[in-house]
Amino acid sequence: MSIFDSSKNKRSTLIKDRNILQTTYIPDQLPHRESEISSIVEILTPALFKNKPSNILVTGKTGTGKTAVVNYIGKELKKEDPEERNCCFTYVNCEIVDNTYGILFNISNQITTDQNKIPFTGWSLDRVYDTMLSDIEKGNKIFIIVLDEIDRIFQKSGDDIFYFLTSMNEVLKNSKVSIIGITNNTKFAELLTSKIKSRLGEEKIIFPPYKAEQLQNILKKRAELAFEPGVLEEAVIPYCAALSAQDSGDARRALDLLRVSAEVAERNGDAMITEAHVMSARNQIEKDTVKEVIETLPAQSKIVLKSIIEIHERKDTTVTTGYVYSVYKEMCNSLNVNASKEKMVANIISELDMLGIIHARVKSFGRNGRTREIELNISKDIIEFIKKDELFEPLLKHKPVRQTKLL
Ligand SMILES: Nc1ncnc2c1ncn2[C@@H]1O[C@H](COP(=O)(O)OP(=O)(O)OP(=O)(O)O)[C@@H](O)[C@H]1O
Ligand SMILES: [Mg+2]
Repeated sequence: MSIFDSSKNKRSTLIKDRNILQTTYIPDQLPHRESEISSIVEILTPALFKNKPSNILVTGKTGTGKTAVVNYIGKELKKEDPEERNCCFTYVNCEIVDNTYGILFNISNQITTDQNKIPFTGWSLDRVYDTMLSDIEKGNKIFIIVLDEIDRIFQKSGDDIFYFLTSMNEVLKNSKVSIIGITNNTKFAELLTSKIKSRLGEEKIIFPPYKAEQLQNILKKRAELAFEPGVLEEAVIPYCAALSAQDSGDARRALDLLRVSAEVAERNGDAMITEAHVMSARNQIEKDTVKEVIETLPAQSKIVLKSIIEIHERKDTTVTTGYVYSVYKEMCNSLNVNASKEKMVANIISELDMLGIIHARVKSFGRNGRTREIELNISKDIIEFIKKDELFEPLLKHKPVRQTKLL
């Protein structure tokens, strides 16, 4: 008898190939991105004749297919020039490697076959630049370098990398470098100096969010490959597509919803995936997202939130800003943390409101001033999750004094 037996026996198998539902999977077809694909292909085609294509800045909200499209084009480009005689396609995700050295190390190790590769660490940036420049020159071809999530390096390491990469072409004779920058930060271009902005954004391609019918087609194609035949109730894909289109037009979210729905059905041992599974998958995903937001809140915000929860649980009073502040001060005292000023706590309350964790409504008392009435906008599970945060462990030993109401 194993502890896995009952869970194993209960499960059904509805997913034929799990990889297909993962975000790392690059599909062979990307419906509804035909015009973006053809624009990028047109810009890149000169590379096949060893001419430098313009640099491209690809922008669009999260899950609109930017990474998938660019990598798909890279794959197709390699099919056109399998021996990389005229052009070479290199992809770097700047979320994973987010400093100038790391990115140059990553690019140059992809493009050189040389034994004297740049070491992981230890060289000066100048030496890395020079080595990379000579590797690129030796390659005698067009190097298309994709910097995905490019706003990340900018936030961490400034614009050195862009300056270096975009000005390389002034020195290179036999080879040329083209950059494709990808970002979901639509304000990104505004952050760059005008010189780099004009170099990097020679061509701009914008990916719009998907509409519900488009998400349906994307999901249908994926579902045909991923599921055993006949396991999807007809309404499931339209429902997943409608929910995701309404939220954000994000294909990743739509695919996640479909995958989690299938997993819920499998766990329950059901023979088909139904709308009810989608509903519970959506709750689950939402809960996970809220948990992540709460987990990463600064300690002061957690204490304010916990104060709101305490008052909420007293049930005999409305939660007002002033009341929150008095409980907050008490709690800081018990936790041995410096309490912030009331204005700061008011700002934190506004932030929690903006994050959708609470609702704060302004209530005016005429000449007697204004306050905010606060309601919690999270489920019981999430409340329990916050209470268990390790920050509040000391409170378990020390119960704050309950405020007595004047009768
Ligand atoms: N047109 C499409 N057809 C099929 N699958 C798609 C399409 N567009 C996006 N996808 C899938 O949706 C998921 C998200 O797409 P992708 O990672 O390319 O988004 P993104 O725009 O790069 O988002 P982010 O800005 O968050 O990085 C991936 O699994 C991708 O394969
Ligand atoms: Mg991406």
